[in-house]
Amino acid sequence: MGFNIAIDGPAGAGKSTIAKAVAAKLGFIYVDTGAMYRALAVHFIRNGITAGEADKIAEALSGVSVSIVYEDGQQQVLLDGENVTGLLRTEDVGNMASATSIYGPVREKLLDLQRELAASADVIMDGRDIGTHVLPDAQLKIYLTATVKARALRRFKELSEKDSAADYEAIEKDIINRDHQDMNRAIAPLRQAEDAVYLDTSEMDIDQVIAEILRLYESRRAGA
Ligand code: DC
Repeated sequence: MGFNIAIDGPAGAGKSTIAKAVAAKLGFIYVDTGAMYRALAVHFIRNGITAGEADKIAEALSGVSVSIVYEDGQQQVLLDGENVTGLLRTEDVGNMASATSIYGPVREKLLDLQRELAASADVIMDGRDIGTHVLPDAQLKIYLTATVKARALRRFKELSEKDSAADYEAIEKDIINRDHQDMNRAIAPLRQAEDAVYLDTSEMDIDQVIAEILRLYESRRAGA
């Protein structure tokens, strides 16, 4: 196994931005597991399946494949060979991913792929259950979080740049719902692994968070 860094945390905590930057600094591969759940969500939406239809979801999983390739160091998610990466970052797809990730068959479908990627290289992998479930032996685990307000404000700023009608209240509500869904599901819910470092980034900027993770990495490496 290479060196594995696991980053878990709630929606909007900045996991992917931070993980991408840390991966680039360390020459690690960045694995975005949320994108895999999002790709399956696209598949369910395309097939007219709603989040409550557990049987149809299980059925729809049997004939579909999710795989990952890297182009110029960027993760691309393939759904039955089709590159769906450009379709994944909408609120609808995110909400569908959260609502369907509660099902055991959905999670099992992606687990081997996630573990295989981590076994083959030095990776920094982000998600909800990486430190607790997917990579319990990761050498460094971070629980990256921020207050609901800080996360909603960051997302609002990001969205306002593209859409002047961005609605702060709706974004905050969405984050609260997603937290509730991800933290309270029966299988592999979002929680801090016992051996994870808790990092509240509410009062930190991106460079400070990156520097702190690099510092933690160096100290783990030195201690290993
Ligand atoms: O990180 P994200 O917003 O792209 O993830 C979308 C949803 O996928 C998230 O709300 C819950 C689910 N997910 C999960 O259950 N486990 C993971 N390791 C990653 C994501």
